[in-house]
Amino acid sequence: MLVAWALSLVNPAPRRLRRLGYVRQSGLLHARSRRCCAAWAPHLMRARGAIIAAAEATSERGSAVVLGSGLLDDVPLDALADLFDRVHLVDAVHPWPARLAARRHSDVGLMTAEISAGLTDPDLREICAGADLIVSANLLSQLPIVPIEAYEARGREAPPRLGTQLVETHLAALDRLAAGTGRVCLITDTVQREEDRAGRVTNTLDLMFGVTLPKPAEAWDWELAPFGEIDRRRRLIHRVHAYPDWRAARA
Ligand SMILES: C[S@@+](CC[C@H](N)C(=O)[O-])C[C@H]1O[C@@H](n2cnc3c(N)ncnc32)[C@H](O)[C@@H]1O
Repeated sequence: MLVAWALSLVNPAPRRLRRLGYVRQSGLLHARSRRCCAAWAPHLMRARGAIIAAAEATSERGSAVVLGSGLLDDVPLDALADLFDRVHLVDAVHPWPARLAARRHSDVGLMTAEISAGLTDPDLREICAGADLIVSANLLSQLPIVPIEAYEARGREAPPRLGTQLVETHLAALDRLAAGTGRVCLITDTVQREEDRAGRVTNTLDLMFGVTLPKPAEAWDWELAPFGEIDRRRRLIHRVHAYPDWRAARA
């Protein structure tokens, strides 16, 4: 908790996004990613592999956009910077490790944007419309978190369909982009299952809020919270779907 709090103090972000809770969320994620680095390694490797496969299958290599770039843990930035003339990293918060990694490349730019309401920012629309590859990198399941927490912080219940609407809005934006000339690659966790030490599933949570996704090209388990992270006897596992070509998956 202390690490997460310290990180939220030092990571730069516009005051509005800080007030909304994005910087705090980013700090919590950063601290957990470091605590759970061994458990997360297989997931990060597969996500990076899926992004590299999508990048290599993209014939035009003008620019690539990564939505939800965050810490760049699952983003093969060096490979993308080698393959594309320009790479745009988009997130509500760009933590320091990502800022430093981006600085090593003259052709990598950072864009700070809050995209739960869709890709509405005019500059973001423009870079996405002109991109040859758009990657949504483990972002989709995160989009409802801050908006739902904002209701709870005011002692109110979030509208029952809010999570569903936010997931649908992001997928609709990807559909529109996939209908253009660029390739869209979506990687997202879809379902959380809680397991006990005997391997019994004790709870499940639909991270897509009822929205059905097409059959993925690849799927794997991400041990998000190994035993001891949230409880000695329980662990959390997320099922991840990868769509290196979202247009083909939707067809
Ligand atoms: C699970 S992380 C993705 C992992 C990231 N690709 C990495 O390698 O670290 C989710 C990311 O989505 C970002 N995010 C969540 N909600 C967002 C929103 N409404 N607008 C923009 N970014 C958002 C978070 O700041 C976080 O960096």
